[in-house]
Amino acid sequence: MTENRHVKGSYWLETAPGGPRPPLTEDLDVDVAVIGAGIAGLSTAWELTRAGRRVAVLEAGQVAAGVTGHTTAKLTALHTLIYDKLRRTRGPEGARLYARSQSEAIERAAGIADELGVDCDWEQRSAYTYVTDASRVDELRAEAAAAREAGLPASFVTETGLPFPVAGAVRVTGQAQFHPRKYLLALAEDLVASGAAVHEHTAVLGLEEGEPCRLTTDTRATVTARDVVVATHYPIFDRALLFTRLSPRRELVVAGTIDRERDPDGMYITPEEGTRSVRTAPWDADRRLLIVTGEHFTPGTGDTRSRFDHLGAWASRHFPDVDLTHAWATQDNDPTDTVPLVGPLHPGARHTYVATGFGGWGLSGGIMAGTLLTAQITGEKCAWSDLYDPRRLRSAVREAPSFLKTQAKVAGHFVGDRLRPSPPLESLPPGEGAVVRVNGDRLAVYRDDEGALHAVSPRCTHLGCLVSFNGAEDAWECPCHGSRFDTNGKVIQGPATKPLERRDI
Ligand SMILES: Cc1cc2nc3c(=O)[nH]c(=O)nc-3n(C[C@H](O)[C@H](O)[C@H](O)COP(=O)(O)OP(=O)(O)OC[C@H]3O[C@@H](n4cnc5c(N)ncnc54)[C@H](O)[C@@H]3O)c2cc1C
Ligand code: FES
Repeated sequence: MTENRHVKGSYWLETAPGGPRPPLTEDLDVDVAVIGAGIAGLSTAWELTRAGRRVAVLEAGQVAAGVTGHTTAKLTALHTLIYDKLRRTRGPEGARLYARSQSEAIERAAGIADELGVDCDWEQRSAYTYVTDASRVDELRAEAAAAREAGLPASFVTETGLPFPVAGAVRVTGQAQFHPRKYLLALAEDLVASGAAVHEHTAVLGLEEGEPCRLTTDTRATVTARDVVVATHYPIFDRALLFTRLSPRRELVVAGTIDRERDPDGMYITPEEGTRSVRTAPWDADRRLLIVTGEHFTPGTGDTRSRFDHLGAWASRHFPDVDLTHAWATQDNDPTDTVPLVGPLHPGARHTYVATGFGGWGLSGGIMAGTLLTAQITGEKCAWSDLYDPRRLRSAVREAPSFLKTQAKVAGHFVGDRLRPSPPLESLPPGEGAVVRVNGDRLAVYRDDEGALHAVSPRCTHLGCLVSFNGAEDAWECPCHGSRFDTNGKVIQGPATKPLERRDI
């Protein structure tokens, strides 16, 4: 991510930089190839290696430096407001299986950290979903009851450790928070020590499904594998058109130190104010690092700079001694029926699998995906296979409204794009970008700090929506499915796999 006034980078990456892992330079033949080394890919690779499979992990960038390296890192089965909805849409048994699968994932991570002796700042905390608006209290009471019915140690409370009053909160005890990168770097190290291959800077470009499957990469090496797991966050190979069931949500994070005495001693989230999520992490003997997340938005829409300012102001208002040190942003995909898509890649898939659509809760979700996909690949039964099956049929009740909203939004962008006004090129200040018209053609133009212009095609290489500039992160973003590109058009985040075409200006 580009350094600028607003984005100073992820605390997780800064405090656990990790050593480089070599790109893949020779052809490989393995039992399972895992594409993507975020929490979903690495957890799956680790479980499969423990199950005796020969595994290769292929990562386009660095280990745990994608969404997982920019998360808030709460490990909880309380996912804002989900259980009351799940018991209506998937029945009480579906809600129970969801709670059990997420809780077991947290226990699994605790067990792995213990077994590998990883110091990953693991701390047990209660998780809270709170509201300050009294008219939403009934919603929270219903969520507490549904979470309890699903098997979680949940209760409705009105007292929390937050420095302001709440109208009500759901509290689930015995949850955890950790340092995701310290945990995953240790997993990667253990993978290699156990004989698995982990290659960074190796982007997978092609997948031929068969027996075996064959992967091509940007390093020109190929990988043959009996099974392939697509753990690239947004699936890069998408015959089942999963993108129609996912909507991208970008969120901002600010962090800074506070006096230890002011630690709210818990993990908090509210659906109010465009989401606010709060936790702390170890800093030094006197202070804790306060981490505040929120201001969610569709990538490529609105003014990200002022959103960062809002979030920082919120943190300073409620924690007046906060000394803000970090700011970063990242995005996750919301599935249309709230439940992640983990399992076979498409209806005809025999040896290809996917893990995606974590809806902002992919840490427990990614660890859960690791055990679920390992069971499926090794032929074991898993009680929650059906719950997470990406091939599940769309149900009018649970998916139609959200599905239609997602598609209407995308269609709106296709139509609205043609009407979008273009500012004159001369008005573009240094450090800013815009889609402008030059000789009748639309160009996405960025003016760097030295005044040089960088022009690329404004058409997203995924399905052709028009990109917009995010001035707080110096990136072109596509509002349709969330692809992101740097100022020279290189892909930062999919589903797009090809760069924006360079244009002369
Ligand atoms: C602001 C924010 C806060 C969050 N906080 C929490 C939280 O507190 N708790 C929680 O449970 N969840 C949280 N989440 C969600 C969670 O962080 C994500 O769901 C999770 O990290 C996703 O993991 P992943 O492995 O699927 O993706 P990633 O970590 O993005 O990993 C995918 C990897 O695939 C690689 N890749 C992509 N394309 C290719 C290719 N062609 N070839 C090879 N590699 C490729 C990428 O480089 C990347 O490293 C949060 C999300 C956001 C946005
Ligand atoms: S991400 Fe799908 S059109 Fe841009």
